[in-house]
Amino acid sequence: MRGKFLTLEGGEGAGKSTNLRFIEHYLQQQGIDLVITREPGGTELGEAIRGLLLDKQYKTMTASCELLLMFAARAQHIETLIKPALAAGKWVVSDRFTDATYAYQGAARGLGFDRIAPIEDWVQQGFSPDCTFVFDLPVEIGMQRVAQRGNEVDRFEQEQLAFFEAVRQAYLLRASRSAERYCVLDAAQPLEAVQIHIKNQLNRLIEQ
Ligand code: TMP
Repeated sequence: MRGKFLTLEGGEGAGKSTNLRFIEHYLQQQGIDLVITREPGGTELGEAIRGLLLDKQYKTMTASCELLLMFAARAQHIETLIKPALAAGKWVVSDRFTDATYAYQGAARGLGFDRIAPIEDWVQQGFSPDCTFVFDLPVEIGMQRVAQRGNEVDRFEQEQLAFFEAVRQAYLLRASRSAERYCVLDAAQPLEAVQIHIKNQLNRLIEQ
């Protein structure tokens, strides 16, 4: 039986990493064989492309170049990691996927959803997640959390409030348009409350 493909999305500082570990542990407890991965990245080649995408040295990277690098890494990821794992009956949980491209390149960089859809079709040929968790948080709070971590910021994290506001609104818009695929979580709630919702959604997916 084919495994399920789950993705995690949201702005910076919304708790994706913490909840990814929670999802990993919960699914393992249920005896599910799973692969944790991320985008951009997930494969050796994809991680090299990630290095280019996040490197602040590339100040002149155009939005189109950024978009195509995201999909180049994704093509490699889908064909060599995600699809083989699903075919082997494993579940795959990815920290970001194509929704991020619509939010960051489509909305925040201003390329528009219409420029992205044909490339998505060409690369993915209808392939898409079974469920996408969207960790939703007011942008100011997310940015404060990132600042508190004190890590050096990458090429995306150095963007300003309006950029992340556009990211947030794009995720919410996409989730409202196809509610059946998305599970939108209020990430401003206490972690325990967020995780109760995640657990309920995972249980539904396991039963399907
Ligand atoms: P991360 O910080 O969640 O690991 O993601 C790396 C950055 O890449 C993050 O700022 C969002 C960005 N990104 C895009 O702009 N488009 C995409 O398609 C993906 C997958 C990530």
